[in-house]
Formats: sequence, structure tokens, C-alpha cells
Amino acid sequence: MLRNGSNLGLNQRMVLLGLLFLVLISTFLEAGYGQVNTYLLNCGSTDSIVDANGRRWVADSSGENFTLSDNGTAVSSVTVEDNSIYQSLYKTLRVFNSSAYYSFNVSPGSYCIRLHFYPFSAGSLNINDSVFDVTANELRLVSQFNVPVEILCWNSRMNEVHNSLIKEYFLNVSSNELKIKFVPSVTSFAFVNAIEITEVMNNMFVDAATKVGTKEKLPFSLNEHGIETMYRLNVGGPALEPGKDRDLWRKWDPDDNFMFSANAAIAISNRSNISYSSLNASSIAPLLVYETARIMSDNEVVEKRFNVSWRFLVDPNFEYLIRMHFCELVYDKQNQRIFRIYINNKTAAEEYDVYLQARGMNKAYHEDFSDVLSRQIDTLWLQLGPEPSVGPSGIDAILNGVEIFKLSKNGSLAHVSERISINEEGVSTKKTKSKVLWAATGIGASVVTISIACVFLLHHVRKRKADSVKEDPSSWRPLFVHATMASTTNAAAKSPLINNGLPAPNRTGRRFTLAEIRVATSNFDESLVIGTGGFGKVYKGEIDDGILVAIKRGNPQSQQGAAEFETEIEMLSKLRHRHLVSMIGFCDEQKEMILVYEYMANGTLRSHLYGTSQPALSWKQRLDACIGAARGLHYLHTGAEWCIIHRDVKTTNILLDGDFVAKMADFGLSRAGPSLDHTHVSTAVKGSFGYLDPEYFRRQQLTQKSDVYSFGVVLFEVVCARPVINPSLPKDQSNLAEWALRWQRQRSLESIIDPKLDGDYSLESLRKFGELAEKCLADEGKNRPNMGDVLWHLEYVLHLHEAYRKSREGDSFGSTELGFTDVPFSLPFVREGDEEHVS
Ligand SMILES: *[C@@H]1O[C@H](CO)[C@@H](O)[C@H](O)[C@H]1NC(C)=O
Ligand SMILES: *[C@@H]1O[C@H](CO)[C@@H](O)[C@H](O)[C@H]1NC(C)=O
Repeated sequence: MLRNGSNLGLNQRMVLLGLLFLVLISTFLEAGYGQVNTYLLNCGSTDSIVDANGRRWVADSSGENFTLSDNGTAVSSVTVEDNSIYQSLYKTLRVFNSSAYYSFNVSPGSYCIRLHFYPFSAGSLNINDSVFDVTANELRLVSQFNVPVEILCWNSRMNEVHNSLIKEYFLNVSSNELKIKFVPSVTSFAFVNAIEITEVMNNMFVDAATKVGTKEKLPFSLNEHGIETMYRLNVGGPALEPGKDRDLWRKWDPDDNFMFSANAAIAISNRSNISYSSLNASSIAPLLVYETARIMSDNEVVEKRFNVSWRFLVDPNFEYLIRMHFCELVYDKQNQRIFRIYINNKTAAEEYDVYLQARGMNKAYHEDFSDVLSRQIDTLWLQLGPEPSVGPSGIDAILNGVEIFKLSKNGSLAHVSERISINEEGVSTKKTKSKVLWAATGIGASVVTISIACVFLLHHVRKRKADSVKEDPSSWRPLFVHATMASTTNAAAKSPLINNGLPAPNRTGRRFTLAEIRVATSNFDESLVIGTGGFGKVYKGEIDDGILVAIKRGNPQSQQGAAEFETEIEMLSKLRHRHLVSMIGFCDEQKEMILVYEYMANGTLRSHLYGTSQPALSWKQRLDACIGAARGLHYLHTGAEWCIIHRDVKTTNILLDGDFVAKMADFGLSRAGPSLDHTHVSTAVKGSFGYLDPEYFRRQQLTQKSDVYSFGVVLFEVVCARPVINPSLPKDQSNLAEWALRWQRQRSLESIIDPKLDGDYSLESLRKFGELAEKCLADEGKNRPNMGDVLWHLEYVLHLHEAYRKSREGDSFGSTELGFTDVPFSLPFVREGDEEHVS
């Protein structure tokens, strides 16, 4: 049609030029976006699969543009207990018994690597025994890596329960090869389920980052560092699955679990045309992230003088890049919302006005900061606070998203090796072992110690490798026994659906033989009994040469006991939280119903309050115990897959470990709470007299608020140190809840508190504490706070007390440090949509 240029009209030439331009642009874009440099490998498989997002993962044995140095062993599993979009990918993995690598043909540039791990054991392969290193070209990604342990650590960081782990890295590749190398530890093996490699736009990590504590902005580049993604949060919004972030298929988690005090901020959203503030900002994060945010909660009564705080557990001794995503969703001019940003208690930015930075409303914008954590510090704090210098506009803040990246140091992102070597010298075996179990069960450790505990556990794994010849192979499989062998699968299928609305039991944990239990308890020696209850007796025992445990032996005759036994195994298998007592295993040989728990050295909370000769707990210790228990309950109510109502909250079900960390125990009566379409569950009344929610008693309808009521009774018990029912007292005093409530309503709780507190408490904190207990005991569930509110108020009470103590010690420590200054007590207890409509 086109013979030569001169025959074309002006319009046709324009069209032609336009077309040419389009072709050029698209070629350019293709190169720039690097779609060609994407590899998705389904490891250990001979089949390619297409995931829920339509992405195709090729079999790693196919070798198109990549090579696999050593085929290792392909292993597959029948069942996958992971409901992520990658479920179908996790059916197979590849095991390497000696070092091996995948080598990919790539063009030089920046890459995102994701390694997917879904540990399962099959045949003679015990996945808990795998320990390995991974490198990508020159960059060390992990060292002495044990996936089950890492999953535990990750779950405890996220306060969630996952069976899989995705590690994400960014690095520059200067050659045409990207080599991912797996190196198993001596006598161990390495494995991987899937590998994802995507070229990323060169603008991902180019912005200068402000060095926290200085005003300096230093250029940042991937040329100098490799990066590991630690956290990626959609602040104030829901989780965004990878399908919502189609450039990089990243997952954005909600921020709730990282907020220091959830009530300090509220979530807002705005879905109106948000756009990127600059061309360079696009592809940094999807616009969805900017549509939701948190702002300071509006407490109307007093001026807002507190910080909104998030805290993150990270690896010590690394530098971090903190990327904050902002978008002003409310104000359409500058000078309306001005705040300060603090990172690790240091000022990162002052007079921060998002509108001004982004040059407009609804403009997506990000800002990078960097800070180095020292050797002992494993918590990264992010705080937004008021800007006193600017008056009324300086009392609100906003944040839409945050990412925390770890930067490599001396070519390595691995964090364990160094700490392990410290432990190998400094810790005796016995101590190590008990700590190990403590961590192995996933719950034991407090915030500060969890990462250390993870190391202990790793140490144990390595040690076990060395000892494995003489040890019984069954003695270490508490964590991942994903059923792959037909027998196990059948066993699970046959177990009955127990009558508490939960699916059939899914037992994890070590299965002890009766013989082992007999050895551990010197054949159920009566002198080792540390508790008795409706269920049976609890013995102190010792397993594996020195690990103390609590062994609960059910009465085999009890039908109810059997149901509760199943419930407890199942609940405890699923629930992992540092404020819930953890189960180590069970024994069901010869119709026995035996549960093995971590040993709680300091026994029940009650035994430290009255009726024994134990020294009295200080006010702070009591508050700490209440806070710990509240955390455990809050997790039961909100953190697990189902809402779980404990049903038997009392001071004998709150146990204290060797460091007086409080944990909730005894889930035998627990049951799944109301699902979305029901606001309560009807059930026969169970629980303990003196703690029972009157509403539950009247209506036999159970909600989380029944636990809140019982917890209110616990609060009074903790401060008054007397039994909840004492028939020997005059009638009007025999019931603690009624009696204490009367005094509290007259605002004279201090007249009836435990004399052993001996004036060593701040009166203000006691008042708030009393008000909180009173709220918990409200007649109707809907007027009671939820556990999240209870927790927040208890933390506030503790803070008041600490501030008082410091001021008495003449310390300059104010009550401002954690952002609690003068928080009024009038925070709404019942929030909208929080009400139960009891039918
Ligand atoms: C490394 O990354 C930076 C920034 O992303 C980019 O400018 C540079 O070209 C990259 N270097 C190589 C060798 O690809
Ligand atoms: C907010 O946190 C910072 C750093 O931890 C602290 O210095 C400041 O006093 C806090 N501000 C308020 C109002 O609590």
C-alpha cells in the first residue's frame, strides 16, 4: 500500500510516525520493565503449574535459560496445609545433600529474589533436620538456616500461624549470571520449594535516605548493599495479596500486630483518585497502599500529647532502611497536619507536612530513612508524634504504609552464625536445652528473648545433628509433621469431629510413649504432683535429660475428659503465642490422655497472691502478670484463625514461668467463638464459680465478653489478694466481685486492697486499674471493653506507675516517653460495630 513517502498525505505520515513511536516506546518499556528477566521455578517438580494469579511456574528440571548443577532429590507431598495462593507450588520441594546451584541467564540490573519454603517430612526425610546456607552471586542470604525455626520466629513476630515462609531479597547483578547456591551444613541437607526472580525497575532503591538522628540525606544504592525485606505493611488497611500488586507480586500485611497501643490511632480510607506525586514514585508501591492510613485517634477531651508507635522485631547489628509511604487523604491545603517522625527514639524528621512534601492532596509519596541497630538491640521503633512548635495543626499525624529492609553488611544478610558462636561458648548444655524447648513450643519467649530463643533452638538443631546417632529419631518432631504418608492422612481423616464446632483435630507435637512418660514422672510418683483438677493430676516431670515439663494425666474414665483432651491438643497445636502455655506433646497410648507442657516454674498466679507462704508480688509484678494474661486472651479472641473463648479465666489458669512471664493455660473448656453471622454461641454453662459472667449464666450464650467479665474478677483478685468466693466471710463480703465493685463505685478501692502492697504503688494507677476492673464487670457484655481495650488500659496503668516510681527516684523520666501523656480514660469502650446484638 505504501509505495513511497511522497505519496503519503500529512495525516498518514503523522499516523506512521505515531506508530513508530509506539513501537519504540513499547520496546523501551519492555527492556526497562525487564519482563523477559523473570523466572518462576516450581522446584522438585516435573510439571509446570499455573498459580491462582495466573502466573506460570515452570518445573525446575526443565532448564530453559537456567541450569541446575545437581538434581538433588525431588520430594512431593500428598497434602498441603497452607491456604496461600501458592498452595499448589508447595506440593513439591527439591532436596540437596551437597552444595548445588541454580544458574540463571539474566541481563545486568536490579533483581528481586524470593525463596519459598514449605517444610514437610516424607519417608525418611525429617525436614526439621535441614540446616543450610544460601547465597545469590556474592551475597550471602542466610546462614545455618533452619526453616521450621525461622517459621516459628516469623509467626511469633507476626503473631500469626503460618506453615510456609517466603524470604525476599533485592540485589544488583552486574554480569549475565545470577547464581543461587544452596550449601547444606555438614551431615545435613538443604531444600527449597520455589524460586522467584523478577527484574525490578532501577528506581526501586535510588532515593537518598535520611540518616536518623542527623539531617543528612545520604545517597543509597543497591550497588553497595543487598537488601532483605523484613516487613511490608499496609498501614490502616487490610492485607494486600500479591495479586493486588502486579508489578512485583508483593504481599502487604496489615499493621495491627505491630502497633504498640492500638487505640492511639484510628484507620481511615479514601478511595478517590490518588495518584503518584512523581513519575519516580510509581511502581514503588501500588496505589491501594495509599488509600488507607492511620491518623491519631481523636480523643477530644485533652490536647493530643502522645505518639502513635509501632515496634518491629529485627536482627541486631544491622543497618535498616525504613521506607514510609505517605498520602494526605483529608486536607486539601498545607499546614493542616504537621508531625514529627521518630525512629528508635531519635528524631528522624521534624515539622513533617505530607501535603507539602507530596505537593498536594491524594498524592502518593514515600520517604526513606536509615538507622543502624547495635548488637543488643532487636527492636525497631517507629513513632509519629506531635509537633509542639506549630500549634493546633501539630497534633495529628498520618501514615499509609511502611517497609523495613535490612541492609547487608560485609556481603551478608545472614544473622544467625555470629550469635550461635557466642552461645556455643557461653551456655551450658542443660540450660540450652531447656531454653530450646521453651522456644520450640513457640510461645515461651518474651519479646526480648524470642530472637535469642530462636538461636538457642538453632543451636539445638545443630547439636542434634551431631548427636543424631545415639538419639531416638522421634524425639524431635514437634513442629512440622505435615502428613505425607498415607497412614497419617488416614488417621487424621478418621478422627471424629468434636462437638465444639471446630474441624477434626489436627495434632501436631511430639507423641510420647507411655514408657517415656513413666520414666519422666518416676511412674506417676505422687510426690511429683503439682496440681489436681477436674481433668486429673498434673505432675512435674523431666524429659530428654533435664528438660522440666508439666505432665497432665487425664482420667481415662471421663467421657467429658476425652472431648476436652482432643480440644486441648487441637487448640494448643494451632495456638502459638508467648502468653499461652505451650504444649510440647501428648501421649495417647493405651487410652491414656496425657498432655505434656512447658514447665512453668513459678506456678499459678493465685499461689503468689494468697493462701501460700510465697513472698508477695509487687504492684508492678502484678500489673505485668495481668498484662501478660490479657495479651494471651486478646490473642485467643482476635489473633487465631477462629475467635476462641477461653471460658475459664481465673488466677489458677494464669501461670508464671521462671521469669514471672504470665501465660494463659488450660484450654480444655475453650471453644470457637461466634463466627461472622452469629454473635454468640449457645452452650451449657461451664466455668468456675465466682468468675462467671452473669449474662452468660442467665442466657447461656457465650461471647468474648464473658472472658472479659472473668478477667475483671481476676483484676480485683490481684489487687485485693483474697479468694473470689469466701463463704466464711459475712454474706455481703463473700463474693469478691460484688464486694470489690461496691468499694470501687464509691471510689475507695484503696481501702480494701492487699495490705502487702504496702503503699508501694501510684494511687493514680490504682484508680485507673479499679475503673478498668469495674468496666469489665459491667452487667451487659456490650458495655464491657474488649480485650484489646483492656490491654491498652493496663499498659497505661503500668506506665502511670512506672512514671510515678521514676519520679520518686528523682529520675527525670517523664510520663511522655512511650506516648501515653495524659490519655483520658474516656476512650470509648464500645466502638461502633463492636456491639453484640444478643438475640
Ligand atoms: C545497580 O542498581 C542501581 C540502582 O538501582 C543502578 O543504577 C545500577 O545501574 C545497577 N548496577 C548494575 C551493575 O546493574
Ligand atoms: C514520642 O517519642 C519520642 C521518642 O521516643 C519521645 O522523645 C517523645 O517525647 C515522645 N512524645 C510524646 C508526646 O510522648
